[in-house]
Amino acid sequence: MGVKKYAPANLGGAAAKPGTAAQSAPDEPALRWDRRLSLGVAEIDDQHQALIGYCNDLVKAVRRGQGQKAVAKLMAQLRDYTVRHFTAEEGLMERVGYPELDAHRAVHNQLTKQVKLYQRQLYQQHAPEPAEVRSFLKDWLIGHILGEDLKIAAFLKSR
Ligand SMILES: [Fe+2]
Repeated sequence: MGVKKYAPANLGGAAAKPGTAAQSAPDEPALRWDRRLSLGVAEIDDQHQALIGYCNDLVKAVRRGQGQKAVAKLMAQLRDYTVRHFTAEEGLMERVGYPELDAHRAVHNQLTKQVKLYQRQLYQQHAPEPAEVRSFLKDWLIGHILGEDLKIAAFLKSR
């Protein structure tokens, strides 16, 4: 004893820690696309699926206990994509003359602030709780698609 063992830093891509796989199945997608989330607009549906992918990458990294740096990078990617997606979605609402555009834009601004705040919060945590991260992302993204975005689909169908 007394000999320092080489302990590789768990900086990414590494296998799950022993014993954790059965409990949290690191590669099981945290969020899943579902037909009920479809707006019937390919551009937006594709982007929503990409967002789910970014969320899943983030939860996977947290589940694997990847370092703050890796988690922060994934969170930044999610934020960047979110901003681009919101711009595209607002563009669609403008093009089709969606009557609730201003309200929807305000919700997008709120969601952007929320994710920015969460990013800071995550960064301060040494070991974020995967279930908690998943729950935030589920409410934040899936909640918005079901609660607000589907109203755009309903409007498009009603024209
Ligand atoms: Fe939206």
